[in-house]
Amino acid sequence: MDKAFFQIRQLASSYIHLMGLTIQSPFSRKARYKLGEVHQSLQYPFHGGSYKHLHELLKQDDLAVQLAPLRSNEHNTSEFELLAICSLIKDRNYSKIFEIGTYDGRTTRAMAMNINKDGHVFTLNLPSGSNTVSLPTDRIDVGLSSKVISGEKFVGTSQEPLISQLWGDSANFDFSPYYNIMDLVFIDGAHSEDYVANDTEKAIRMIRSNENGGLIVWHDAHLFGVKIFLTKWIRENHYPVYFIRDTSLAVLGIKDGKPFDMLASQ
Ligand SMILES: C[S@@+](CC[C@H](N)C(=O)[O-])C[C@H]1O[C@@H](n2cnc3c(N)ncnc32)[C@H](O)[C@@H]1O
Repeated sequence: MDKAFFQIRQLASSYIHLMGLTIQSPFSRKARYKLGEVHQSLQYPFHGGSYKHLHELLKQDDLAVQLAPLRSNEHNTSEFELLAICSLIKDRNYSKIFEIGTYDGRTTRAMAMNINKDGHVFTLNLPSGSNTVSLPTDRIDVGLSSKVISGEKFVGTSQEPLISQLWGDSANFDFSPYYNIMDLVFIDGAHSEDYVANDTEKAIRMIRSNENGGLIVWHDAHLFGVKIFLTKWIRENHYPVYFIRDTSLAVLGIKDGKPFDMLASQ
């Protein structure tokens, strides 16, 4: 309640400030910036203190990442999302990655380019031709398994040996061999609330319990069941989930099986 009141007050004061700026100097840089901020806050449900620039989540000043392929298909991450995910992996010198939802394998390949030398990427997808899944979700989620050849963007590349394609429905896939060994889990499979809740629970178990912990990254955080799940989950538990500006990505630190503030030690 307090948070909602604070957000409404902040929005109202932004509008008043913006109107003042527009009357005084309608084309100033400040007015344009403020207009952009108000537009973002209306567009994006998680706008606020947890809405961070990518660079605010990074530790290294001189980070370089490698990205390929940049050309994307519908349903892929955007170019900037690809950069954000790979930056988190490289910045933290991550080794083991699990992706739920391979699709054509574009993000899988880019992630494999940025893991450390002992690293490996595991990526799970529904087998091609799947017609039904165990939990309720949209038909599109299921149909995507037959739309492209899963992993076609990494097959035959120098990253292929660093990637294991796994098959199954994330609702009943046996994740136990992957428990407690992952540095980052990227959730981008079925997008219903039930699936995202299931995939998040499995992701928490997969993140390794060392002193650094690891990260869960959700794609489409402000859309579909992902938004519904995250909104309720964060409200009920006050978890320190961050949303990366200009992307649909949400990120949460996990240590010893529990959420922690990934910025607290930076
Ligand atoms: C949006 S695409 C993933 C895009 C990919 N991560 C990328 O960045 O390019 C979603 C993928 O999840 C798969 N999928 C849907 N439901 C699933 C489920 N229940 N278990 C595993 N994979 C699923 C679909 O077949 C599809 O390939």
